Amino acid sequence: MNEGFDEHGQQASPCTMVIFGASGDLTKRKLIPALCNLANGRLLSPQFAVIGFSSDSLTTEAFREQLSKDIGEFAPEPVDAKLWDWFLERIYYVPGDFQDSAAYERLGAQIAAVEKAHTTQGNRFFYLAVSPKFFAPVAKQLGRAGLTQEADGKWARVIVEKPFGRDLDSAKELNRELKQILDEQQIYRIDHYLGKETVQNLMVFRFANSIAEPLWNRNFIDSVQITAAETVGVEHRGGFYETAGALRDMVPNHLFQLLSLTAMEPPISFDADAVRDKQAEILHAVQVPNPEDVITSAVRGQYSAGVAGEERLPAYRNEPKVSPASNTETYAALKLQIDNWRWSGVPFYLRTGKRLSRRATEIAIQFRRSPFVLFRKTKIADLQTNRLVIHIQPDEGISLRFGAKVPGPVMRLGLVNMEFDYARDFGRSHSTGYERLLYDCMIGDATLFQRADMVEAGWRVIQPVLDVWSSLPAGGFPNYAAGTWGPAEAGELLARDGRVWRAIGEEHASSEPSGVPSTVARATAGVH
Ligand code: BG6
Repeated sequence: MNEGFDEHGQQASPCTMVIFGASGDLTKRKLIPALCNLANGRLLSPQFAVIGFSSDSLTTEAFREQLSKDIGEFAPEPVDAKLWDWFLERIYYVPGDFQDSAAYERLGAQIAAVEKAHTTQGNRFFYLAVSPKFFAPVAKQLGRAGLTQEADGKWARVIVEKPFGRDLDSAKELNRELKQILDEQQIYRIDHYLGKETVQNLMVFRFANSIAEPLWNRNFIDSVQITAAETVGVEHRGGFYETAGALRDMVPNHLFQLLSLTAMEPPISFDADAVRDKQAEILHAVQVPNPEDVITSAVRGQYSAGVAGEERLPAYRNEPKVSPASNTETYAALKLQIDNWRWSGVPFYLRTGKRLSRRATEIAIQFRRSPFVLFRKTKIADLQTNRLVIHIQPDEGISLRFGAKVPGPVMRLGLVNMEFDYARDFGRSHSTGYERLLYDCMIGDATLFQRADMVEAGWRVIQPVLDVWSSLPAGGFPNYAAGTWGPAEAGELLARDGRVWRAIGEEHASSEPSGVPSTVARATAGVH
């Protein structure tokens, strides 16, 4: 049995899944392994089938053969041979051009045959793992072919991948086009960050623990830092990245998910709309920066060549399919303010970048100092505050920093961490991060998917930054070396407020101004 996700839920209803762009990476790396995990956890209906659709001219047999090779490489743990045989019989393939109506007729015929063979009861969902330029055309073709109609209790849903638009206007336009064919409740805008256990755990941490809520406001919290740092460069995606940049690629989607789950008010229930109403509300409360704010509250960067250990890392401008004069940012940092009672005056600092010195996604909640210094002889540098860090990846868990007396005859303060470690406490997960999202789509639970208003609210905040950055080309790019923590300006963004970015990965090192020798911190922590 898989330990990576809850296998005690109800089985999803019978259905057919159609994957557009099925010959691409997502299918073999995530979708098929995730479906196998669901089957293994008995969450997939036995009346289930998958049809792959893409422009590669493959047969069903060739597609099955290819996936049989891939599953060994990409499944997080070996798939039981019997389960795989069962699953393979349910996989089909239809070749075709995304814009060609005749291909959708063939697809329709295949769906009808599959529905009969596997008694999937006319329920279907379409996963658009395709280039964003095809989202609306594919939806239109599906509508024209009558494949998205819901009648007699049958459901039809469409999962739309990111990026959802490239700015506010294009996101609105895409919403408009999709809604000409589909009802909002048929559209599942996916953000894979919401498939991460630790992201879902944010809601549990906040709303299932009575100690959290009373402290979760401006009276106790000084500031919040949200980081999504990557060590990889743009890899083989230079062509795409040149048109996107770090801000578009990560902020209005992934980072805003983390922001809204951290900052939202408690929902009245865990129903999809109750939760999403609160997320949308907080996104609407984020102050939209004016052009002057953008100059002082947003920082961009691009990596030059650098080193990581023995490895020499190329500059962004030397990556494949990247212009040697590119001004695309590979790093973005923002300071945002939320206009509501809970968060007024509490800055939210966001940063993300490629080729940083460490891979880490986390939310650090910095608490205020105690109101009065009892330990008068303590050096200012030693007076650190409480900090709660929600580690999203790669080390999943939560840690709380607090002060403790360093053993010895004199009163000295030390900093220690109390830690919850997912892998240690719940066992290592074998999940791909897509199980929950696919399952939720099959049972019609849209809580972890984006509603149109949430997507637009996110772009609304980012739009002025996009505008200012495109009208004022970045001077001085590249401005940080690959393998470092980003441009100096990002440090200045916080320094102006008398703050520093959390030194991730150096919790116990002397470079973090804890004032406590690393050995002492480690020894007193006792829980690492
Ligand atoms: C994707 C971005 O959405 O998220 C990538 O397009 C980025 O550029 C990736 O690398 C990060 O996802 P994760 O799950 O590795 O943090």
